Amino acid sequence: MPVDAGVGVSAGMLVLGIESSCDETAAALVRDGHEVLSSVISSQIKLHAAYGGVIPELAAREHLKNITPVVEAALREAGVSMGDVEGLAITSHPGLIPALLVGNAYAKGLAAAQGVPVVGINHFEGHLYGSFLEHPEELADRGNYPVLGVVVSGGHTALVLLEADGRARMVGTTLDDAAGEALDKAAKILGLGYPGGPIIDRLARNGDPRRHKFPHGLCGGGGRPVPPEHRFDFSFSGVKTSLLYAIKGLELNDRELADVCASYQAACMDVLVAKAMDAARRFGARLVCLCGGVACNSYLRAHLAEACADASLKLLLAPPKYCTDNAAMIGGLGWHYLRRGWADGLDAPVAARLPADLGVFPFACDAPQERPSAVL
Ligand code: KG4
Ligand code: ZN
Repeated sequence: MPVDAGVGVSAGMLVLGIESSCDETAAALVRDGHEVLSSVISSQIKLHAAYGGVIPELAAREHLKNITPVVEAALREAGVSMGDVEGLAITSHPGLIPALLVGNAYAKGLAAAQGVPVVGINHFEGHLYGSFLEHPEELADRGNYPVLGVVVSGGHTALVLLEADGRARMVGTTLDDAAGEALDKAAKILGLGYPGGPIIDRLARNGDPRRHKFPHGLCGGGGRPVPPEHRFDFSFSGVKTSLLYAIKGLELNDRELADVCASYQAACMDVLVAKAMDAARRFGARLVCLCGGVACNSYLRAHLAEACADASLKLLLAPPKYCTDNAAMIGGLGWHYLRRGWADGLDAPVAARLPADLGVFPFACDAPQERPSAVL
């Protein structure tokens, strides 16, 4: 898509994106917001697997060790040098503070040394942008708005509505665990390893999703009506507890384990599909985007695709390489900020949480506008 360069920035601007919000150290070179020249990811999964979850201080130490080699590898793979980079984008929120601090200090130091601008990026917004990296034409298609983003990861389970003017509004979120967390915790209960999402996805393929009846959180089951204010919200703590009771004292053989995984996965994913479709109808969405690590899930991809086809709704499934944490989504999104001159000072903060008001996601709108006031 030929996108106008906008404020004070040449077309073809090369951005170095860096991601260090959780347990992946990643760097990517992205030109023009969508041409990914390289995307390098160093995962710490093995380190944290021993603890069954991410330990923030360990993650920070690993980022510190890996960040220079990862950036160097990204430059090498892209066939460019640091001198070619015209701006930096770094995940600044939400995430684990010690992990974020490493990436932000590094990116700001590099930007200052090179004399180029740097912008802090909302990781959640980055996941949504990941759906569009290979499809900038869908971003430009005004007929796609409002877009319903289904952002499902280890940290988020959210339905976000994106208007044509870039305004983003959270219409539903989880009241307790995120969907990825529900899968990771289930895998821990079942003694399957970490992270649980991909393992459950694989084992569930040989199982019967109707074998066990696990509760569907905030869907009105068991005679408990859903409070209207939680119509588009999620809750995964009940399904986890019911798994705990369902397998208590049992020695599961392979067949039984596959059935448990399939039924548990279906209980989590069916809720996501049902609520996404309900929200798409209610808010008149024209395009649904599925993104975030859990968007790799084969059951979720197939069932959301089926539901969208039935409802004649367009669907954009983020490619798996841009579902889990990566820096291409950060570098690509950074271009939309930097081309408007929306850079940050070296004293810009990092934050553990998403802001209550998501503000404007500039990648969705054409016109350069005033940068909304501070989001953190
Ligand atoms: O987006 P991501 O890499 O990190 C966060 O921002 O949280 O998402 C990681 C989550 C983990 O909970 C992991 O279990 C889940 O994504 N995940 C999956 C699959 N692949 C990764 N969940 C279900 N099925 C998968 N195939
Ligand atoms: Zn993520």
